[in-house]
Amino acid sequence: MNVPFYEKLWMWASGVLIVAFLATIVAGVAGSALAPPSHVETIDPAKVWSDPRFTQRGTSVTDRGATVVAVSMMFAFVPAEIRVPAGRPVTFRLTSADVIHGFQIVGTNGNTMIVPGYVSQFTTVFREPGEYLIVCNEYCGLSHHAMSVKLIVEEARP
Ligand code: CUA
Repeated sequence: MNVPFYEKLWMWASGVLIVAFLATIVAGVAGSALAPPSHVETIDPAKVWSDPRFTQRGTSVTDRGATVVAVSMMFAFVPAEIRVPAGRPVTFRLTSADVIHGFQIVGTNGNTMIVPGYVSQFTTVFREPGEYLIVCNEYCGLSHHAMSVKLIVEEARP
């Protein structure tokens, strides 16, 4: 079979692209141990308030970074204000006591769904101290638009 040179070229080029795209997925999963930020750890949504993982709500800071534990519900986040240190990894652990909510830290790449029955977790670093706004970006009911929480990123203490 006679395949013209340019046709061969394009066939090889598209083959290389397919392999490259698959390689990025493999590298992301194997190399960086990436997993979706939710749907890994389960929780009984009816017992969120008494679950030991979510009874200590708020920020706990260690030398390595901080962990924020928060619960979402119609139409608020608990706690209502979050303080974290700048320049260190901050891990958010979130769950819902009722329906699906969103958790978007406006102006950053921090963004996840909060699905009842699951714990959503992600880690990010805030380089710039200041005040940030966290909003619910999944429609959850009549007062969805009012569902927000203030995030204060504080200069890390030496
Ligand atoms: Cu919670 Cu929209």
